Amino acid sequence: MNNSECLEFDHLVIGSGVAGLSAALHLANAGYQVAVLSKRTVDEGNTKYAQGGIACVTDIQDTFDEHVQDTLIAGARLCKEAVVRQIVEAGPAAIRELIEDGIHFTTRGELGMTEEPGEYHLGREGGHHKRRILHAGDITGAELEETLIRTCRQHANITFFEYHIAIDLIVSQRIGIPGDNHCFGAYVLDVRGNTVKTFRSNTTTLACGGAGKVYLYTCNPDVACGSGIAMGYRAGAKIVNMEFIQFHPTILYNPQMRSFLISEAVRGEGAVLKVRDTDGRYVEFMQKYHPMKSLAPRDVVARAIDNEMKRRGEECVYLDIRHVPEEKLKLRFPNIFEKCLESGINMSKDLIPVVPAAHFVCGGVETDVNGYTGIHGLYAVGECACTGLHGANRLASNSLLEGLVVSKFVAAHIQRALPSLKREPQALQVPVWSCGNATDSDEQVVIAHNWEEIRRFMWDYVGIFRTTKRLERAKARIKMIRKEIEKYYWDFYVTPDLLELRNIATVAELIIDSALSRKESRGLHYNADYPFLDPDLDGVDTVLQRSFRYYD
Ligand code: SIN
Repeated sequence: MNNSECLEFDHLVIGSGVAGLSAALHLANAGYQVAVLSKRTVDEGNTKYAQGGIACVTDIQDTFDEHVQDTLIAGARLCKEAVVRQIVEAGPAAIRELIEDGIHFTTRGELGMTEEPGEYHLGREGGHHKRRILHAGDITGAELEETLIRTCRQHANITFFEYHIAIDLIVSQRIGIPGDNHCFGAYVLDVRGNTVKTFRSNTTTLACGGAGKVYLYTCNPDVACGSGIAMGYRAGAKIVNMEFIQFHPTILYNPQMRSFLISEAVRGEGAVLKVRDTDGRYVEFMQKYHPMKSLAPRDVVARAIDNEMKRRGEECVYLDIRHVPEEKLKLRFPNIFEKCLESGINMSKDLIPVVPAAHFVCGGVETDVNGYTGIHGLYAVGECACTGLHGANRLASNSLLEGLVVSKFVAAHIQRALPSLKREPQALQVPVWSCGNATDSDEQVVIAHNWEEIRRFMWDYVGIFRTTKRLERAKARIKMIRKEIEKYYWDFYVTPDLLELRNIATVAELIIDSALSRKESRGLHYNADYPFLDPDLDGVDTVLQRSFRYYD
């Protein structure tokens, strides 16, 4: 693999989910040339698989205050209230723009309900006290992604680079330029051309999505390896609150099938969680855990399921929505109904077996509400970022809203900051990628083995239920594996598998270190050695930042 070409753009966006595409669109509309990188095809990522919808106050019975309150309660006193309010209040305008771009949200009429003209059907999910979730059937993410791709493709200022995997950000402190840290773009592996390209840009936006692949069981697609968080960390950005990993309570349990999510919206339409008791009867259990029962916030539901499964030695629990007629279920959840049928389950007649799995990272690269990371020219948005909206536990369907709204703020901030960023003379000193003395790898098995090992011990030791001993075990293992991977990284040419492994290892260590340092239980982080919430830690983030002197 040879060192290769250098490409220049006004703006580089790494990732092409809702956050990346809508940031690209806003920047392109402002007249800038934008490059958008996708690890695989442009549509592949968490956005496409989002089922529930977009939480937004559109109903006259609902208020911004109530949406803010639900978000704060779910976030377990770790959300930044001002950020929550800004994002919630900017929601309706972002939704109007999407509708102008052509997205179709399901109306009440389409579900056979009485309808005022243009009245949307609003779904409900865990932690929401009101119906406020706009949705496109049960494939909202796919509709959203398609709408944004169509709009972006029509834009002459946006250039897509599919099968391009960002390796690392180019930042001044890493290339030895003294002074404040600046980002000048990224080194990127062109997978099909098998070359490394240098992308130079005035600003770079990380929109790389989530990190579910750090865990053995996840509903995330293969690309969700935490690359934005890992690259942000290596570039010197602050990484916050990584201990808060959201496990979705209801993934269809079928060991023969790829993980498939049963949307919380199914519980919003009346499905109830049940467990098999010793007499073989299926009984409700959520009343023991929370007054909102099956619609309690996700951290509570996932922990309750985990507890019931372990206590009873069961492999799964069940969702019961048999009281809703088949025709109604097919209308409201056509995709879920179909997928269940493929698994031999008719939702209107059978119980649906479900288990929790890793779903969403609430922490990430620390940013303000404008997506600014504190490193000149570097922004982060969407799941890889942490604005303070989610706190210790994300409220369902707030993430697509955040991606849409904050990407707009990113573009506005960039426009304001650009004159000073453009004049940076250091930008001229960016070195092109060099592969040094690297050679072709002689032992690919190292990658496969470490990949498997990390994901397994993260599931066993750093999952829904944690103890200090388990976390320390995980720490000992990840330290060893990370050393091995770093050596491998410098000795051999980069490949997609090696890059993904390096990223999941970095993110795993960030999760473990954050979990070890939080000496309490709050939201999604439960440590049996510190089972209670410590009020002194209200609003206190866990912050990790690399030191340039000691890291790789
Ligand atoms: C779901 O549909 O249950 C997932 C929605 C979300 O995670 O926000």
